[in-house]
Amino acid sequence: MENIEQLRIELISSVDKAENMSALEEIRISALGKKGRITGMMKTLGSLNKEERKEAGQTLNKLKNEVANAIDSRKNIFEETELDVRLATEKVDVTLPIRPESHGRIHPTSQTLDEIVAIFGQMGFDIAEGPDIEDDFHNFTALNIPQNHPARQMHDTFYIAGEDENKHLLRTHTSPVQIRSMIKQKPPIKIIAPGRTYRCDSDITHTPMFHQIEGLVIDKTSHMGHLKGCLLEFIKAYFEIDEVPIRFRPSFFPFTEPSAEMDIGCSRKGGELKIGAGEGWLEILGCGMVHPNVLASCGIDTDEYQGFAFGLGLERIAMLKYGIPDLRTFFETDLRWLKHYGFVPLDIPSMTRGLSMTGGTAR
Ligand code: PHE
Repeated sequence: MENIEQLRIELISSVDKAENMSALEEIRISALGKKGRITGMMKTLGSLNKEERKEAGQTLNKLKNEVANAIDSRKNIFEETELDVRLATEKVDVTLPIRPESHGRIHPTSQTLDEIVAIFGQMGFDIAEGPDIEDDFHNFTALNIPQNHPARQMHDTFYIAGEDENKHLLRTHTSPVQIRSMIKQKPPIKIIAPGRTYRCDSDITHTPMFHQIEGLVIDKTSHMGHLKGCLLEFIKAYFEIDEVPIRFRPSFFPFTEPSAEMDIGCSRKGGELKIGAGEGWLEILGCGMVHPNVLASCGIDTDEYQGFAFGLGLERIAMLKYGIPDLRTFFETDLRWLKHYGFVPLDIPSMTRGLSMTGGTAR
């Protein structure tokens, strides 16, 4: 039989010197495996006499345990250093998209759009769309704003390419969708057109890109009274209050005649804006009866048809309803802002379930 003490020193020192898990495993197999050295010695015990067998058996068992323990504690050291290395090298990539099902929030712009669509949808409006890149004809000329008309200066237009009639630009309002709808479709027409609009402007209440909702109703009978009633119903539903004072102020838009701006009643006590009561007024949209020149440029018979149009800034009314003080923050894509002002994805606004009740609690 091998000298046990010699074997013990040899095995323990090779365990201490082992540099990785696989070296340790080799030592374990060579000592304790089926054909290992200790196992082999155990097998020879049978040839010894009773006294010798007892003593040698105990010594071998002790050796076996000692070697197994030495291997285990060395293994632990390896596992710990491996973890340290992983912790030091593995990094979380914070630019990866978050899991929408657990963390995602609906942006106030989307929420407001869904609310507006739910309200006008129930009033029987269809949704129309047009391109963000428009031509001069749809954005200006057909809307009764000819070349060199001073009203063109009202819009700080981003021009893209082309000369005169072929000029292309980023649409400055959603009103060109009125033109596209009237050219494509015969009256009666009853649409809203939400979308992005662009103006070269930036401060606390202006961003170079923002959203508008256009409304257009063309038939044989609609008049200013219908326009007023329609907008009043919308405002009450949107702000979720029963009584909202509104007033119409005469205004000017080349594509409507008469034109008006609508204000809603509010109070500004202690720096807090409250919709629906008080002595103050807040302008929220432009509107009017569609100008006969506009109907004519779309081939609509002005003796037979008439109608009204309105346009409002989507983020503007979102700011009012949800108390968001700065328009620019809508487009800064700051996750902390979105967590605070955003809405839970499955709280979809509807006229029957409520517009923003559930969304409000999630903010
Ligand atoms: N297009 C106008 C604007 O951007 C708003 C408007 C739309 C006014 C429709 C009247 C009718 O300011």
